[in-house]
Amino acid sequence: MRQPFVAGNWKMNGSRASARKLIDGIKQGIDSVATAEVAVCPSFVYLADVQAMLSDTRIALGAQNFSDQKPGAFTGEIAGDMLKDFDCKYVIIGHSERRALYGETDELVASKFITALEYGLRPIFCLGELLEERQQDQTESVIARQLDAILALPGGVEGLSKAVIAYEPVWAIGTGMTATPDQAQSVHAFIRERIAEKDANVAAGVQILYGGSVKPDNAVELFSQNDIDGGLIGGASLDAGSFLTICRAAGA
Ligand code: PGA
Repeated sequence: MRQPFVAGNWKMNGSRASARKLIDGIKQGIDSVATAEVAVCPSFVYLADVQAMLSDTRIALGAQNFSDQKPGAFTGEIAGDMLKDFDCKYVIIGHSERRALYGETDELVASKFITALEYGLRPIFCLGELLEERQQDQTESVIARQLDAILALPGGVEGLSKAVIAYEPVWAIGTGMTATPDQAQSVHAFIRERIAEKDANVAAGVQILYGGSVKPDNAVELFSQNDIDGGLIGGASLDAGSFLTICRAAGA
């Protein structure tokens, strides 16, 4: 049985005050979420505040990015052990915004994946196709390429047993255009089958989240699909009420 999991990706939003208010709201309602694990991924600069506020809760902390390098002369970067210093359990890697806007390649994402595991961080590994790729019937080949970058690593398949996967069709992110439950389920099943070709146990155990315009009114249907184990939530994670409703949809 895979535990349902919902993570909030706050992206580059909010202020110190709004981050505190959001965490307060989530804490107040978290007891209504019975079975799902819940995590929030604030901006780096709010990690210390959020860590302190979460210390007496079961809500986990994650970061949105980090460097694949060991500490050293890398101006502007954040190392894995710095995230561990703030009790981060998760780190998002390979988000489509990082791939598209900051030139992150499959190779760099794979390097971050391995580095995260070395630091004892659980990667939330994102993958997903562009609209043109879906229209040209390339969804599965794109997903296969992105996934194979991890599967081809020495220890990559075993690494997936300590990671979470997030399928996020790029055309659905922040657009209000959610994948239908069938579209999402079909890609989730494809991902699980491809992992199963290497290791059936890892495939059966790995949580695969859906992300892309998940809202309180579509979460139940998405999360009821066989291979959808929860969600990576952007916009709707910035409102405590919406986020909690989505968490309950995953595991009330
Ligand atoms: P969205 O973002 O929920 O705002 O579409 C999801 C994500 O990018 O992780």
